[in-house]
Amino acid sequence: MNSLSNKKILVVICGGISAYKSLELIRGLKKKQVEIKTIITKSAKEFVTPLSITSLSQGKVYEDLFSSESESEMDHISLSRWADLIVVVPATANTISKLSNGLTDDLASTVLLASNKKIFIVPAMNVRMWDHPSNKKNIIKLREYGYSIIGPEIGDMACGEYGEGKMTEPSDILLHIENYLSSLQKNKKYKALVTAGPTREYLDPVRYLTNKSSGKQGYEIAKSFRDNGFETTLISGITNLKPLEDIKFIEVETADEMLKKTIENLPVDVAVFSAAVCDYKFKKYNKEKIKKNAELDISMIKNTDILSYVSKHNSLRPKLTVGFAAETENLDLNAKDKLSSKNCDWIIANNVSDNEIGFDSEYNEVKIFYKNNKNEILHKMNKSLIAENIVERVIKNLN
Ligand code: CTP
Repeated sequence: MNSLSNKKILVVICGGISAYKSLELIRGLKKKQVEIKTIITKSAKEFVTPLSITSLSQGKVYEDLFSSESESEMDHISLSRWADLIVVVPATANTISKLSNGLTDDLASTVLLASNKKIFIVPAMNVRMWDHPSNKKNIIKLREYGYSIIGPEIGDMACGEYGEGKMTEPSDILLHIENYLSSLQKNKKYKALVTAGPTREYLDPVRYLTNKSSGKQGYEIAKSFRDNGFETTLISGITNLKPLEDIKFIEVETADEMLKKTIENLPVDVAVFSAAVCDYKFKKYNKEKIKKNAELDISMIKNTDILSYVSKHNSLRPKLTVGFAAETENLDLNAKDKLSSKNCDWIIANNVSDNEIGFDSEYNEVKIFYKNNKNEILHKMNKSLIAENIVERVIKNLN
């Protein structure tokens, strides 16, 4: 059995000269026992016919958003839910632009926007269109949204020009999708745990000490583990973010609760400690609100270091233990020190004093320090892409 057999794939064909190649992809998918449904845009019909698609796919072809026949049989939401994954082939500059801006004016764009599935985009266009800054921006946005972009390749184009923009060959697209599915299958055996967000240390029922962590980076890491097939647990301090689907989500407030829930959810294969845990808690918690004229005692004691605790107990320690280092100065020195003092395998260090890449930003720039004295920088990018890069490295390490 191959990784594609019995999978359901929705093929979205847009209007470009390479649309005819989508037929070859459909033929390849069919040979691998894939169940196929197709959406064809109005302009794609200038290049391929619904009849040629149905005869190859032996599945229904959907064309029009407001066709009462197709909507009653399967509406645009069910269509996007039906598929295990979606491939847009060829993806024109127009479709890419619509997707990156959330525009929905036909069935294809509506289904894509409504989808909660993995989407592969296979661009094909003239080299100048591909290189246009607005297209480049759109592609970056799509990557940030979690779409996988396959190609384009460099070569001779139908328009007679030469350059980047040529559609990836159907056999390579097939390989790409197969590799993705088999890696999902392989990763199913792995468990991941992520801590995220700030903790709150209470002085009394209405007052607490906390920090600026938004939890965004940790949530993105958990999401990326899930999307790569891991059984994922996210232990989060209070944030403004929504719990993530298909992830075991545990909300905590204090560092003590985070420690307890972390231990309860071990063992795992990989743990990423991205939470900004308060180093101190109040020595004395007052059950009642402290009154203004009462004598104030705000002396503090240290919280347990969750990362150190887990990584120094052999019975708890995951195969791969990854910590973060939030620094405002001496990044390299402090990160290396945390790598050894906390006994972890990797430390992911970031400069939290820079607002562009700091706590509440959409972006991050990190330097990963490995146990073998090597390090590498992931330059400024959206936190979702940082997460993908980290998880990609985790998968390589575990395998
Ligand atoms: N960490 C933890 N438990 C704590 C404190 C920190 O698990 N009580 C983890 C964080 O989740 C992160 C790493 O330790 O993975 C480093 O956290 P950071 O705040 O950068 O460093 P600290 O250990 O708190 O040291 P310092 O505040 O002196 O930089």
